Order: sequence, then structure tokens, then C-alpha cells
Amino acid sequence: MSTLLLLPGDGIGPEVCAQVRRVAERLTPDLVIEEGPFGGASFDAHGAPLTEETKARALAADAVLMGAVGGPKWADAPRDKRPEAGLLGLRAAMQVFANLRPALCFDPLADASTLKREVVAGLDIMIVRELTGGIYFGEPRFIETLADGQKRAVDTQVYTTSEIERVGRVAFEMARGRRNHVTSCEKANVMDSGLLWREVVTALHRRDYADVRLEHMLADNAAMQLVRNPKQFDVILTDNLFGDILSDEASQLTGSIGLLPSAALGAPGRPGLYEPIHGSAPDIAGQGIANPVAAILSFEMALRWSLGRAELADALFAAVRRALDAGARTRDLGGALTTVQMGDAVLAQL
Ligand code: NAD
Ligand code: IPM
Ligand code: MN
Repeated sequence: MSTLLLLPGDGIGPEVCAQVRRVAERLTPDLVIEEGPFGGASFDAHGAPLTEETKARALAADAVLMGAVGGPKWADAPRDKRPEAGLLGLRAAMQVFANLRPALCFDPLADASTLKREVVAGLDIMIVRELTGGIYFGEPRFIETLADGQKRAVDTQVYTTSEIERVGRVAFEMARGRRNHVTSCEKANVMDSGLLWREVVTALHRRDYADVRLEHMLADNAAMQLVRNPKQFDVILTDNLFGDILSDEASQLTGSIGLLPSAALGAPGRPGLYEPIHGSAPDIAGQGIANPVAAILSFEMALRWSLGRAELADALFAAVRRALDAGARTRDLGGALTTVQMGDAVLAQL
């Protein structure tokens, strides 16, 4: 018997997680589903965005699936109490260093993208984002007041050889099961961490993955190429910050950020963390109109990567595809279905 810890969080998080629960209860009646406080909701109830108890339960679960955290209500909280700090703390505690962010354009949605159909139809890319290092975690970081009264803020971008190598391995392994092509993105032209990134990826490729086609691309060019000709990409390997930005950009190629799931994985055998890539969407929270597909597909990834139920993952993926084929659309996709109705549409196809 496996355990899934659901962390609904804030804003639309609880709305989309409720649909995940319905799907999970139908598809995997033997799965034990626990729920815990997280993010701003946890700060309000327990004074911390990530409590020791939630952390311990996450480490003890087989998989953790979160909705979203954050929102204007907590914008002025001290940095370590912010909902987002809870999320970074959870990623660090779970040591989920490789974040798989697939961007796939379902054919009936090719017209939902703001890009031309021919640019996005058939798109299937996998962004492998480093998730527990880089500028998100680098020290020192602070804001200080200078003698002249100005303020000065510092963040630190930092990577070690082994941090780059382990996520690089995930990208190359991914590529072997796909179209055998990795595009590694950094700013080796201006950043020392970019230089090291390129050096380590090149050496790893030469040593263990020479059968995979490796291309290096500066991250700014990659951002442009993603909207110019996204189908040139198979696997994009990149750091924490560039991966955050490039994955939001890639989501729009598929029609909506409300469609993109992710899987954050660590060492084999450890629990994975599954998250839609979108946030708490304060502009639509509470209205019941958020697209739950990103969260539902995050559960699909959990079935595949943590729960050992690939056949059920296939079935769920097919059900989402059929629901979209049949015209199910939330507001972000130009339709009128509510979050619950979109859940209904997926359940009807299961
Ligand atoms: P966002 O992703 O929450 O929203 C961006 C836009 O996309 C909004 O217009 C929103 O309505 C829309 N959108 C997002 N998800 C949607 C869905 N499922 N269905 C329909 N429309 C959707 O990004 P933001 O507004 O920049 O951030 C809001 C808050 O969320 C911030 O506090 C941020 O830190 C946090 N955030 C959290 C996560 C996470 O928990 N994993 C991810 C990103 C942002
Ligand atoms: C994401 C989010 C998070 C990130 C924030 C909320 C910490 O934007 O998962 O994409 O930047 O990693
Ligand atoms: Mn993001």
C-alpha cells in the first residue's frame, strides 16, 4: 500500500487538488491519501509555511503532490516565513534535484496557444530543471543598508560539479527514452557558473552519453528559439532559475500554464514531489474556474515515477487526452467549464 501526501496550499491549490483527490480515489482506491498544511495556509495556522510535521510526513510518503503556494496576503512576511520559502524548504529536505517539466501540445489545443498552430502542433519537449541548487539556494544572500542610505541586495548563483552532473545524467537518460537530443542551456558567455555547467555537461556526455546528441545553447537564445521553433528541442537541460523561466514560457506553447505538470525527483527510492508548474493564481482563486489538468497530470507523473503504476498513468493520460479531444475546456483554454466540471470530464473518460 502506497501513501500520497497532498499539500493543497494556497489560492487555486486546494481547488485543483480536490480534483486530483477525486481522480486518485477512482483510479487507485488502495492508495492512502493524506493531507497536510503547507504554504501561506500553514503559516496562518501554525506560524510556518513548512512545519516539521509536514516535512516528516513528506519524507515518509511514497509521493507528495502539492497544489500551489503564495499570494498577496503573505507578500510582506519575512523571507523565511513566506509561502515560497516553505516550498524551497520542502524541495531541499526531499533532495529532489531534478525537476521534469514536460511541455506537450495536445492536438485539439494547438489553436489555444497564442502561437501559430504549425509552430506548436505536435510539440513534445521535456525541460529538466535543476531544482535544489543555483541562485535559489546560494549563500550569501541578504539586503543591507549602505552608509549613504542606499540598499544593496545580493543573491549568489553557485553550482558544484556533482550538482551539475547528477541532473545532467537525468537529462541524458531521459533523452535516450525520447528523441536522443539534449540542449543544455546556460550563460557560459558571462557567468562562471555557466562555464562550469558547460564543462561538466560536456565531460559527462563524452564519458557516458556519447550516443546522445548534445547541443549547448545560451539561455537567452533558448528563450527566443522556444517561440521561434520550439520543435527543434527534445530535452532541455538547465539550471534552477533559467528552468523556472523557460518552463513558464514553454507552457504557453501548449495552450495554458494550467496544463503543465512536473515531477521533482531525487535519488532512486526516495519520494518524489509533484507540482503543477503554475502558482496560486490569486487573480482567479476562489472562483472555481482554475484548470485542474496540470495538477491531474502531476498525479499522472506520480503514478509513473513514484508509485510504480505506469499502466494507470497511461490510462489517466489517455483519459485527459480524450476529455480534451471531446472539447472539455476551462476558461484559460477558451472554454467555460469550471474546475469541477473539468474534473468530471476527465473522470468520465477514465
Ligand atoms: P501564477 O502561475 O499563479 O499565475 C499566472 C497567470 O496564469 C495568472 O493569470 C493565473 O490566473 C493563470 N493561471 C495559473 N494557473 C492557472 C490554472 N490552473 N488555470 C487557469 N489559469 C491559471 O503566477 P503568479 O501570478 O506570478 O504567482 C502567484 C503566486 O503564486 C506568487 O505568490 C508566486 O510566488 C506563487 N507561485 C507558486 C508556485 C508553486 O506553488 N509551485 C508556482 C508559481 C508561482
Ligand atoms: C515554480 C515556482 C517556484 C519556483 C516558486 C513559487 C518558489 O515559480 O515552481 O515554478 O520559482 O521554483
Ligand atoms: Mn515558476
